[in-house]
Amino acid sequence: MKPNLNEALRARDKAYVPYSKFKVGAAIELKDGKIIHGANIENASFGLTCCAERNALFSLISQGYKKEDIVSITIVANDHGPVSPCGACRQVMHELMPRNTKVYLANTKGEIKETSTDELLPYAFVLDEKPHE
Ligand code: THU
Repeated sequence: MKPNLNEALRARDKAYVPYSKFKVGAAIELKDGKIIHGANIENASFGLTCCAERNALFSLISQGYKKEDIVSITIVANDHGPVSPCGACRQVMHELMPRNTKVYLANTKGEIKETSTDELLPYAFVLDEKPHE
């Protein structure tokens, strides 16, 4: 298993970031070899912005793939060190990727940190473990 830095950089090229100018790219590798791209897409109503990681995962599900098809995700931005995913993306990655999926955090200088969905979000909120009706 290895990071897909070039694919994440290609995904990052597609970012729509007129407000922050902070481009983020995500590349999800699937077991069939396919790579799913995601980039951050901003909006003048700032709260409607959606991050690269979530766009990649929502695209994957929309295309009919399942969490079991996922091998890894690589995320890249022009940051001081490997980019750190926001809390919302950590929650979504935890639910839509298999337990302990490899997450490669990178920057455009090529610095890469290897982590996992569980390490990024210990004690995640999981609805089906609740005693709900
Ligand atoms: N952003 C991401 O795409 N992923 C993250 O995990 C952190 C933040 C985006 C959202 C916004 O477009 C820009 O980075 C600045 O916050």
